[in-house]
This record gives sequence, structure tokens and C-alpha cells, in this order.
Amino acid sequence: MKKIAVLGFGTVGSGVVELFFKNRRMIEQKAGQPLELAYILDLREFPDSPYADKFVKTIDPILADPDVIVVAECMGGVDFPFSCLSRCLEKGISVATSNKELIAAKGAELLASAKAHSCNCFFEASVGGAIPIIRPIHRCLAGNDISDIYGILNGTTNFILNQMLTAQMNFEDALKMAQELGYAERDPSADVDGHDACRKICILSSLAFGSHVYPENVPTIGIRDISLEDAAQADVLDGAIKLIAFVKRLADGRILPAVMPMFVPHDNMLSRVDGVFNCVEVCADAIDKAYFCGRGAGKFPTASAVMGDIIEAVKHDKTVFSQYWEDSGTQDFLAPLSELVCGMFIRFEQPVGADAISKAYAAFAQKEAVSADISASDIACVVPAMTAAQRDALLEAFRASGLQIAHSMPVLPA
Ligand code: HSE
Repeated sequence: MKKIAVLGFGTVGSGVVELFFKNRRMIEQKAGQPLELAYILDLREFPDSPYADKFVKTIDPILADPDVIVVAECMGGVDFPFSCLSRCLEKGISVATSNKELIAAKGAELLASAKAHSCNCFFEASVGGAIPIIRPIHRCLAGNDISDIYGILNGTTNFILNQMLTAQMNFEDALKMAQELGYAERDPSADVDGHDACRKICILSSLAFGSHVYPENVPTIGIRDISLEDAAQADVLDGAIKLIAFVKRLADGRILPAVMPMFVPHDNMLSRVDGVFNCVEVCADAIDKAYFCGRGAGKFPTASAVMGDIIEAVKHDKTVFSQYWEDSGTQDFLAPLSELVCGMFIRFEQPVGADAISKAYAAFAQKEAVSADISASDIACVVPAMTAAQRDALLEAFRASGLQIAHSMPVLPA
């Protein structure tokens, strides 16, 4: 009987093990053969676990067992899982990982190794938790020319922003709740400072455009500066503040990936994705737009995606998927954030009146020959798309007319 090993018995790893034993009969049917979950690698002791006999402390017994067909990695971090998965792939054992940090840092190397050793490196669980997004982009949308991807890719921050607005909860309490629900990373700054979403958009960008995008080259801003006032005024102006991870292809073929809080107008579905839910909007020539939504974090939603990969790996043993990208050796294909053309949400320090805001904007719009289409409340406004230089000039013009700016952020590009 072919065997499965799970590396890491934390939130996701324990979910994979429990899901396997809960749905074993169905899983084996779908995989087309009986399967044994034979090993769990974790350095901690679990003497009272019903799976106590399966625990090992090194990868060696797993690698030494010729019946192991797939190894699921749910440990987190980069160096140790990279070493474990590289050794698996070198032996022709397929791997399935939920580890976005690992794939964002080492995806090109792992995929090359899988290809070289006639096995597979799957990572559906690394982006969007339960949401099928890796295989849909790679396979179902393969006939499209993808131009943009916009995503709410971090459940913790989406949960926090939502709790702030709907439950008037402060940032710390909402974060604590997300941690208790098992959504947050071990170090929650990876969530709130945008690094987790950054790793995920790197993976989607690499997959969609074929060259490895590394996190250190992606401008990333988290949600620490977002206040309840921002969220409330966004709502008044018919939108919501969301942490958006995006990649946009420019006319010259370069791509512009970034992560930042954005004002999302209510006519875009992303504005209504709340709580721990994630959503990815894919824009492409044949489909126009497609949205992929679901639970973006949590034990069983993430375990679901890992289990799907395990079954896929068993079914396609010795068949290499073309799911692939390479390290292009340069990052010249990336455009800087200063090339982003978009609208802007601006909140002022004091209520100044919608008329005063509209009047100050009208003078700027006439001088710069940009659209005069603005929506304003007493204390905030949303202005139409313009270049980064024009956005800076507008903030300067507002200040010069006596309007003190509390906060500004981009509007989700159309
Ligand atoms: N901390 C992540 C999130 C977990 O909140 O989305 C899923 O990757």
C-alpha cells in the first residue's frame, strides 16, 4: 500500500491528518488506491495523540521507505522544509505544501527539481486557503492572456478590518481573536505588515507570468495605519478598505506587483468579501473577469487544499505537471509602484465640507487636465485615476488650500 507522510503537526498538519482519517474511504476512492498515512514528522511529543505511533523526529525514515508516494509539508519557515522537500523530490517523491514563504522564496528551485526527478511539487494550499486558485490559473485559464490579478489574500487582516468596522473592535482585540481562531501566522506581523499577502501575490505572479517574483522586490504596506475613521469614511463614500495584493501587466509587458490597503468601490465584488474569506479576481482576455472566493485560512479549509494536492499527486505518480516557472535571472520585468495609475481616497483631519473639497479639487483638475469626477463627504473624498506624480501634486494642492490630510490611499484600479 502506498504511504503518505505529513511534516508538521500544527494547525494545518493536524488538520490534514484528521481530514484523512475522517474521509479516508472517499479519499482512497478518488486517489484510485488504498493509502496509509504512515508518518508525521514533528519534534514535539504527542504521547496522548491517537496518532502517537506515527510520529518521527527526522525525515530519514520517510525517505528510507520505498512505499512513500507523497509528502505533505505544513511546517512553515524556509530552510528546514526546503531541505526536506528537496530530498524528497530528489528521490522522486512528490510533495504538497501549504508553505507560501517557502514557495515564494524557493518555488523555481523546487519546481525545477520536481521536473528533473519526474515527480510533482504541488502548492494549492499556499494561496487562498481553501480556494482553488493555483490549478484554475494554470489549467482552466490556460487559454487566456492574463493581464491583472487582484486579491484579498490574507484572512487575518480581512477579519481585523471587518471586525473594526462592524463590531467597533480595536485593532489589538481583533488580532487576538484572529489568533484564537487559528488564522494568524506564528508571528502576526507577517499578516498585519502585509508580508504573508506579499508571498502569495509573488506565487500568483510567478505562476501567471512565468518568471519568479521574489518578495523582497514587491512594495508592501500593511494595515497598521488604518483607523476606524478611514473604514467608516470609506463606507460613507460607497466603498471598503481592503488589504489588496495585486499584479498588473503594463502596456510594455512589465508587471507591477504590490501589496497595500486600498479603497475598493462597492461595485467591485472584492469590497464585499468579509471576515476570514479571501477572494481573487483574475482579469484575462477571454474571460474578462473571474472571481475565486472562500475561506482563506484556518485548519480544515487549508487542510482541504493540501488533501486535494495529495490525491492529485497519487493519481499522477510519475507524471510531471507542467505547472512551472523559472528564475529569469533578473527582476527587470518588474515595474515600480510609481507607474501605478489609479484613483485616490483621501481623508482630512477635520470636517471641512464636501463643497470645499470639491472646489479645491475642481481647480486642480482644470489645471492638470484630469477628470473632474469626484465624490466627497464632509471629511473625505475619492478622486479619479491619475498618475503617481499627479496624486502627489493633488495632495500638495489640497494642503496649499488649507485642507489637512489625515490619510490617503490608492483606489483599486479599474
Ligand atoms: N495567516 C494567514 C492568513 C493564513 O491569515 O491568511 C493563511 O495563509
